[in-house]
Amino acid sequence: MEKTFFMIKPDGVKRNLVGDVVSRVEKRGLTIKAMKMLQISDELAKKHYAEHVDKPFFSDLEEFITSGPVVAMVVEGPKAIKTVRNMMGATDPFEAKPGTIRGDYALIIDENVVHGSDSAESAEREINLFFNEDEIV
Ligand code: CMP
Repeated sequence: MEKTFFMIKPDGVKRNLVGDVVSRVEKRGLTIKAMKMLQISDELAKKHYAEHVDKPFFSDLEEFITSGPVVAMVVEGPKAIKTVRNMMGATDPFEAKPGTIRGDYALIIDENVVHGSDSAESAEREINLFFNEDEIV
C-alpha cells in the first residue's frame, strides 16, 4: 500500500467538481485517509511548489493556488502515486486524454483542476506539509 497527496485546486472547487473528482477516486478503489478544505497561504504555496519558485510561471501559479479554497487529501492504495497521476492526465490539459480528470474538465495548464504527488519523496513531503499525523485516519 502506498499513500499520495492529492488536491483539488481552486478552479475545481469553484466549478463544483469536488464531488465528481472525489467520486472518481473512490470508485477506482482508492481509499481517502484524510481530507480537508483550506485556503493556501503565500508561505504554504512557496513550500508546496518549492521546485517551481524560480520558474517564470511561479507568480501566476502562486496567485492562482491562493485565490480560493482547495480540497487536500491523502489517498491510499496499491501504487497510489502512479494511479492518481494516471487518473489526473497530463499536466497540460491539451495533452490529457479523454477519461482523465484534466482531459475531461480542463483546457489550460494554469487551471488544471487537480494536483497529485509525482514521486514517493514528493508524496511524503506534501502530505507532511498539509496534514498532521493525527489527521490521517
Ligand atoms: P501541478 O501538477 O500542480 O504542478 C505545478 C503547476 O504549475 C502545474 O500543475 C501547472 O498547473 C502549473 N504550471 C503553469 N505553467 C506551467 C508550465 N509552463 N509548466 C509546468 N507547470 C505549469
